[in-house]
Amino acid sequence: MTDTATTEGRTCPLHYRYRPGQLCSQPETCDHDVLYVIGGLYGNPFALDEVERMAAAEQAIGRRVKLLFNGDFNWFNADDELFQVINRRVLDHDAMLGNVEYELAHPSDGAGCGCAYPESVDNAVVERSNRIMLRLQAVAAGHPEIQRRLASLARWRCLMFGGLKVLALHGDPESLAGWGLSQESFRAGNQAQVAEWFRQTDADVMVCSHTCLPLIWSGNVAGRPRWVLNNGAAGMANLAGDYRGLITRLAWSGPPEDCVASLSGGAMSLALVPVAYDQSAWLERFDQLWPAHSDAAISYRERILAGADLSPSGLCF
Ligand SMILES: [Fe+2]
Repeated sequence: MTDTATTEGRTCPLHYRYRPGQLCSQPETCDHDVLYVIGGLYGNPFALDEVERMAAAEQAIGRRVKLLFNGDFNWFNADDELFQVINRRVLDHDAMLGNVEYELAHPSDGAGCGCAYPESVDNAVVERSNRIMLRLQAVAAGHPEIQRRLASLARWRCLMFGGLKVLALHGDPESLAGWGLSQESFRAGNQAQVAEWFRQTDADVMVCSHTCLPLIWSGNVAGRPRWVLNNGAAGMANLAGDYRGLITRLAWSGPPEDCVASLSGGAMSLALVPVAYDQSAWLERFDQLWPAHSDAAISYRERILAGADLSPSGLCF
């Protein structure tokens, strides 16, 4: 392996970095009844169908629903038509950058996939992700108008929603591709860092994704309750034996009966909600895009089928 191959996909490019203290300086007002934060759609059009169906069902009973796509809505859609469909449909809603979109909009030298994978992730996985990104970048290069729209998206958003200051991040409060709010970080004991980030941002809730495994954390910082919700992946299985994606749902109404985890945030419900997309249709499309032995098939097909090694009891910290 070359030095470049070792670095690409591991490092966190400088332009991914920001300061926690700047993230909530200009909160936007969100006066909807329900907020979906959808991280990691990963180019799955059937998951997008299902998220839109879920929103429509809530709208049909009078709720105003906002959809905020929290980056990495591209990944497996390395096909000219599907690339356009995913981006045009997602950008009809509201969206933020993930590292995938950043690298599609303006490829960085040496960033690879831009995932900033930690040491716990095997080199072969990182190299396959870098090659998936190269294939996706070749498709994106044919669509400069989509690249321009992606380049205009924000790296973070702060929304005043239901009296809570909700900070939507792709990675963590220091980097677009940070792993500081991952399952791995919480298991390793990152409570002091998380508390410091809440003090620096003054957020009540942080919602994130990027790291592909879901979690909910609740705690008290400086005399106020605070929460972190990482939705894992909207377009790919998360829990063991469960093919469904997950999104974060914040709402005035209570959590849906089928949510996999929820808690109360003041008058709001904060929940991780399943996205029960058409798995057989997605598998058929995925296999066309990424046949057996392709990089994405090796890295992800088993995960798409059977989920990660994570049970619902492992979601909450
Ligand atoms: Fe990401």
